[in-house]
Amino acid sequence: MSLMIGIPKERFPLEKRVATVPDVVGKLKALGFSVSVETGAGDGADCYDDAYVAAGATIAASPAELFGAADIVFKVRAPTLDEVALLKDGSTLISFIWPAQNPELMQALAARRVTVLAMDCIPRLLSRSQKMDALTSMASITGYRAVIEAANQFGRFFGGQVTAAGKIPPAKVFIAGAGVAGLAAIGAAASLGAIVRANDTRNEVADQVKSLGGEFVRVDYEEEGSGGGGYAKVMSEGFQAAQRAMYAKQASEVDIIITTALIPGKPAPRLITAEMVASMKPGSVIIDLAAEQGGNCELTERDQVVVRHGVTIVGYTDFPSRLSKQSSTLYANNLLRLAEELCKTKDGVINVNMEDDAIRGLTVIKEGEVTWPAPPLKLPPPPAPKPVAAMPEKKAASHGHGAGAPMSAKTLAVVFGVGAVLFALVGATAPAVFLSHFTVFVLACFVGYMVVWNVTPALHTPLMSVTNAISSIITIGALLQIAPPAIPGVERYNLLIGIMAFLGVVLTGINMFGGFAVTRRMLAMFRK
Ligand code: NAI
Repeated sequence: MSLMIGIPKERFPLEKRVATVPDVVGKLKALGFSVSVETGAGDGADCYDDAYVAAGATIAASPAELFGAADIVFKVRAPTLDEVALLKDGSTLISFIWPAQNPELMQALAARRVTVLAMDCIPRLLSRSQKMDALTSMASITGYRAVIEAANQFGRFFGGQVTAAGKIPPAKVFIAGAGVAGLAAIGAAASLGAIVRANDTRNEVADQVKSLGGEFVRVDYEEEGSGGGGYAKVMSEGFQAAQRAMYAKQASEVDIIITTALIPGKPAPRLITAEMVASMKPGSVIIDLAAEQGGNCELTERDQVVVRHGVTIVGYTDFPSRLSKQSSTLYANNLLRLAEELCKTKDGVINVNMEDDAIRGLTVIKEGEVTWPAPPLKLPPPPAPKPVAAMPEKKAASHGHGAGAPMSAKTLAVVFGVGAVLFALVGATAPAVFLSHFTVFVLACFVGYMVVWNVTPALHTPLMSVTNAISSIITIGALLQIAPPAIPGVERYNLLIGIMAFLGVVLTGINMFGGFAVTRRMLAMFRK
């Protein structure tokens, strides 16, 4: 018997997302399920009833009709108690639940003898979970949208410009918390041309911040900020004081602050005080993505935009909903991947396999029995760090010097000594004209070596294209052949040589100008 998936309309205020989109309906049907959508469920995400019908879904006229028929309910927001009452006995609900924050809801669900899979309980550290990780897909949308919202509220360009009307400095953006949303915000702000700085209590994210074009600003206090599972912990008083001093300095310098700092199961840490807001330039903007958990900024008001001390503070809690089509599509794909895991037989029947670590983590209620929290994952221990210091020594002992390792003074002296002797021998025997060419050759090798050796590997490709362009200097040979100097007794002009030389000039010209153009484009990729 194939099961029916029901998609109710979300009734949470400001919620525009929907749990599946027409493009995904066909894929759910291919797994053997039938799909029913409550009328108007997708309106907020520009997915209308007729598109669902065209994709093969049926339309339910009311919540009662939908919940009454659905064996599996796909939802975005945790259900209300009214919706819980409508769930069919023995059905399965897949939705955001936040069990720690919603004990009453958990009790009500358990009383209905249903099975509940909470998308917020996904074991994120399992690589198999990534395709189902709606926390990540929603957080990355939130980070991106936060930057767009900041740009909307901010009265200037993000990128610096030099125009006839004056020089515009780039906007400075500070991101507090470099988790998924913070990293997405760093990428989006940097791509708009802003100078981006970021801080996190977990120093391990510094490289990720840099790779996205941001600068990681450290707190001048030694304390490990990781609370396990990639999440943060509440920091000591000493750390918080040092962090406040650093944030106060940043607040007085930057134009935009985007805060994303969260600690699982705790109120959001207060990072931006009223004094810091007052120290910001008039027209600055704060986007507080932690507004739902109490806010990272003291002056944030939930779901409101307020202006305090001339600074606009945005406390929206519905960022993913502000890109509702995008977030619904990603969420629908996360749920589709989960449906594939639950229905490996593709016959429209699900198996909530508690032996499977990913499914076990997600399942918070199994047939009326609360199974949350799941036992901690038994992940393989991380590979032991390699003894870094020992390796170069070994290499040095066996090979004298490794690639990139400086030569010892002794080796250098031997190389130069042998070189000098050879040079003296050549100088004593070779004709004078050879010697002058040879000197130029040796100097060219030396200069070329010194130029190339210290270039960062990332710049090797532009370097190759520019050397390619420079090597086209051989065109001088061809130019000389087009108009060769007069030599007594030799015929002055040979048409064939002239044509060949002309073609040579054209082809090396392409190489030369093309090489410089490619180099310019490549170097532009490294410039801010
Ligand atoms: P989150 O939303 O819980 O917190 C956001 C950020 O705020 C975190 O980076 C946290 O360290 C930071 N933070 C907390 N308190 C702070 C304070 N007082 N000052 C400054 N920063 C503070 O985190 P999110 O975005 O959910 O990511 C959590 C972790 O999960 C990350 O380590 C991420 O890399 C990891 N993750 C792993 C995945 C995987 O392995 N497949 C997928 C997605 C996330």
